[in-house]
Amino acid sequence: MKGLILSGGKGTRLRPLTFTSAKQLVPVANKPVLFYGIEALVAAGVRDLGIVIGHTGDEIRAAVGDGSQWGAEVTYIPQDAPLGLAHAVKISRDFMADDPFVMYLGDNLVKDGITTFVDEFRSGSHNAQILLAKVANPQQFGVAELGPDGEVVRLEEKPAEPRSDLALVGVYLFDHNIFRAVDSISPSPRGELEITDAISWLIETNLAVRPHVIRGWWKDTGKVEDMLEANRIVLDTFTRNIEGETDSDSVFEGKVVLEPGAVVRKSVVRGPCIIGSGTLIESTFVGPYTAVQKDCRIAGCEIENSIVLEGSSLEAIPDRVEGSLIGRGVSIHRGTRLPKAYRFVVGDNSEVDIF
Ligand code: DAU
Repeated sequence: MKGLILSGGKGTRLRPLTFTSAKQLVPVANKPVLFYGIEALVAAGVRDLGIVIGHTGDEIRAAVGDGSQWGAEVTYIPQDAPLGLAHAVKISRDFMADDPFVMYLGDNLVKDGITTFVDEFRSGSHNAQILLAKVANPQQFGVAELGPDGEVVRLEEKPAEPRSDLALVGVYLFDHNIFRAVDSISPSPRGELEITDAISWLIETNLAVRPHVIRGWWKDTGKVEDMLEANRIVLDTFTRNIEGETDSDSVFEGKVVLEPGAVVRKSVVRGPCIIGSGTLIESTFVGPYTAVQKDCRIAGCEIENSIVLEGSSLEAIPDRVEGSLIGRGVSIHRGTRLPKAYRFVVGDNSEVDIF
């Protein structure tokens, strides 16, 4: 069995970070979202991986390399434009060479992994298997309608009036019939070849599509709130590990991970949280559910429930920083110049809230 990870796309809902960077590389608990997907596939015994890449392809290649860090073998499949999930399948045909495969959306995080789901497909005789989860906002997902015997009757992509609350999770299993399906469908009104239409074609052609409803936690990390939630869920699974440099004036409470090379002085750090190597925390309160990547500097601040990417600096911010996603190399600090004022140099589609 092969794996197909979709890591192209536009990432519009995570702008401005995704103007310069791939959304699949935004870190959850200091690790790119995409890496959780690779790990889940490898744990399920899927090591021959094709990764579909778009305009952020160079960055994905630099982060993932040849896959040997996971014991996997990676082949990159460039997609000229994000023309849809079914289009990504279409351009992967040579790589798949008629093998069954797992398709994994590179921005999805499934907490309990996908091993059970993959094993179920391996041991059965279905042509496709889809993963479903109950959600409160089905309008934002592909939605499945199940029949009286639990069979898949219909799939719709982001319907205005969903027929059920069962969303398609971004993990799918297919045999070679999916290539006939993607060749038989036309672009949707939004101009994409939809995987939901391709799976609907399989159902209409009387091929066997098996649903599997998961009860565990999963997330499509497309939006800032989802990233923060994913960060909280993963940080909660951590165990305390303080390897960095500390002083006697600092207090560490709960599940704190302080990577080697991180420095904490005169601060209170309350887990669950992670602080990356080369980061300096000084005279600061780091509250629960905070992930600070490497080479940052946070001084004279209070911060919680936030993600800070590498090389950023926060200094003397008067109020607590909360629910924030701060990109790479960002600088936020309080100066002493008069008159007092806010001064912003922020990128397009940035968001600044002052409460
Ligand atoms: O997360 C689950 C949802 O994912 C499903 O419920 C939907 O049925 C499915 O269409 C998809 O919806 P999204 O709107 O979240 O898809 P998105 O455009 O974010 O793309 C998902 C991943 O695939 C993302 O990592 C980018 C990548 N991608 C996307 C497109 C459209 C590609 O590599 N190529 C593409 O052409």
